[in-house]
Amino acid sequence: MDTIRARKRQWLWRFAALGLIVGSTSLGLAQGPAPAPPPKVETTVYDMSKLVAPPTLAPNELEGKRLFVQRCALCHDLLGQPASTTVGPWVDGTTVKARGEAAIRLKIMDGSRRMPGWKHTFDAQQVDAVIAYMKTMTPEMRPKPGGPVTGPIE
Ligand code: HEC
Repeated sequence: MDTIRARKRQWLWRFAALGLIVGSTSLGLAQGPAPAPPPKVETTVYDMSKLVAPPTLAPNELEGKRLFVQRCALCHDLLGQPASTTVGPWVDGTTVKARGEAAIRLKIMDGSRRMPGWKHTFDAQQVDAVIAYMKTMTPEMRPKPGGPVTGPIE
């Protein structure tokens, strides 16, 4: 009788030990691999003052900028373009000074073999506005290929 009881107890201990082993391993599995390190957070401090500052351009210069960005920038400005060259040369205030306003106006109106003319698209006041905007442009505003967009934001 005693031996049977002892055997029973032995089996009980064995089950208990087995349960402990299984339990602890499954606990270990539940924990899974070591947690990944927390992601590195990089913060960029943007200079918002340029965005919220009132425009420094006069209304007709702003209108000229709008037209220039819409119609001319694709050929004359690297702004937002991944290419390192544009079809047309960079034009700014120094170009207007060097060529003279009359010649610039003529170029915009008639174009050339490589540049479309705008006399059927723009009226005289719009051409004036584009030239007025070009005069506010400086060589420093020329975007660098692949670089960040520079120049004042209007
Ligand atoms: C399809 C491309 C294209 C577009 C669009 C374009 N141009 Fe041009 N532009 C050229 C090319 C190419 C030249 C250089 C060859 C030449 O002078 O004809 C040029 C030359 C010029 C020049 C003379 C530069 C110099 O150094 O003498 C001025 C000024 C000019 N463009 C202004 C404009 C303006 C303003 C607009 C928008 C209303 C405009 N262009 C739109 C291609 C373009």
